[in-house]
Amino acid sequence: HQARIEFDPRFTVAEVPDRLFGSFVEHLGRCVYTGIYEPGHPTADADGLRQDVLELVRELGPTMIRYPGGNFVSGFRWEDSVGPKEERPRRLDLAWGVTETNQFGLSEFMKFCRATGVEPNMAVNLGTRGIEAALDLMEYANHPSGTALSDLRRSHGDEDPYGIKLWCLGNEMDGPWQVGQRTATEYGRIADQTARAMRMIDSSLDLVACGSSSRGMPTFGEWEAEVLSNCYDSVDFISAHAYYHPGDGDIPSFMASAQDMELFIDGVIATADAVGAKLKSDKKINISFDEWNVWYQLEWEKSEHAKWVEAPRQLEDHYSAMDAVVFGSLLITLLRRADRVTAACLAQLVNVIGPIMTEPDGPAWRQTTFFPFAEASKFGRGKVLRVNADSPGFATDKYGEVSSLHSVAVANEDGSVTVFAVNRDLNTPMTLEVDAGLASIGSVTCSTLTDEDPNAKNTLENQTRVTPVENQTVAVEGGKITVELPAMSWNTIRIA
Ligand code: AHR
Repeated sequence: HQARIEFDPRFTVAEVPDRLFGSFVEHLGRCVYTGIYEPGHPTADADGLRQDVLELVRELGPTMIRYPGGNFVSGFRWEDSVGPKEERPRRLDLAWGVTETNQFGLSEFMKFCRATGVEPNMAVNLGTRGIEAALDLMEYANHPSGTALSDLRRSHGDEDPYGIKLWCLGNEMDGPWQVGQRTATEYGRIADQTARAMRMIDSSLDLVACGSSSRGMPTFGEWEAEVLSNCYDSVDFISAHAYYHPGDGDIPSFMASAQDMELFIDGVIATADAVGAKLKSDKKINISFDEWNVWYQLEWEKSEHAKWVEAPRQLEDHYSAMDAVVFGSLLITLLRRADRVTAACLAQLVNVIGPIMTEPDGPAWRQTTFFPFAEASKFGRGKVLRVNADSPGFATDKYGEVSSLHSVAVANEDGSVTVFAVNRDLNTPMTLEVDAGLASIGSVTCSTLTDEDPNAKNTLENQTRVTPVENQTVAVEGGKITVELPAMSWNTIRIA
């Protein structure tokens, strides 16, 4: 197969938003407990944060972390998670059928954010609670001092306010699985009222209203239109969530999952802009794609779980080389649509459908999906370029004919250009020709992640089975770059 892309660093789509490389820590399974937090672990610091995990988080390079859920937030009482640990109550977590000990809470999360240099993205509970609890949490978190709740925070040892700027107004409120599910009208109203009250404390907040839990929801489209009709002026973002898996064994369609993500983004933007047009508003609502990943959801739904235990193994997907390629393709879509997707969170960070895995009292290691994210976060900064592509295609049941090559180019601040390219064809390698529109080309390198076995994984026993390697086929001749992209591969091409 032959494919070709061309671009010119002068023709840009958008600045890559910092918040595009967000991730997500939910009180779910072992994401928090024995994931990022494990007092007694050989690498734990005085706050119980696992330093082996923190090092991997820094290498992964998330810029922002959403917390504390997810479905968990819809039953969360934030007050339980602050103050002396021995006084914190144990509670039933209805979302995941477990016992929450509250030994990790708001203060510990902020320590984790500071230690990893990420921005906090805090969700408020609009399931079992509402405006008052959201305002109390804001006062505790963000008010400097001199009020009951800000002084309570100070008495808990956190003198400085947390300064949380980005807030989610609930989570997946369209889902029947959500504690306190609401209709679009009910949710639109409570989101608007909560947002307006929160802005009375701080008008500069960035607020995210819940969009649909997936493009497949029966209310998709209608939900966004009704919610935004109620809160267009008081929010900045509408959320989107999407998880992909080859549940029905249809691997070609799974490889092309990014098609669904693109249709999802187009649909939400069209709907949001239609609401804005009707309101004669010149304001644009952007997307916070605040949950995205590969997730073998059917396996979770089929499995049985003991109830009310603490931090059990839940949603611990072990990702294959093939999953990492699909994952990389989703990242490419987010970058390509960075004009309107201005925040996004890889769900989640550790153990729970995470790029990082840990064992209690044991090691931490990188899943296959770690690498596309780390490379994109490191090299995908600057300006997204307009790319013209010509590529052969392959047939899928869900999306018809889909191009084998999926790519995006980013002009980096130092004058270099990075191309992220996926060969989605499972069987056929491809020769990619790149016309980078540069007067002269210095060095070109390509890092490639692939495996002869699409199911190869990094496991406790073999933690480095799948890692990116230097692609030796790069050639530069007369201003033309060529590189061989193996079948089913993720590639990072750096042009300096
Ligand atoms: O990320 C796992 C779960 O998926 C989240 O809790 C929920 O928001 C979504 O359904």
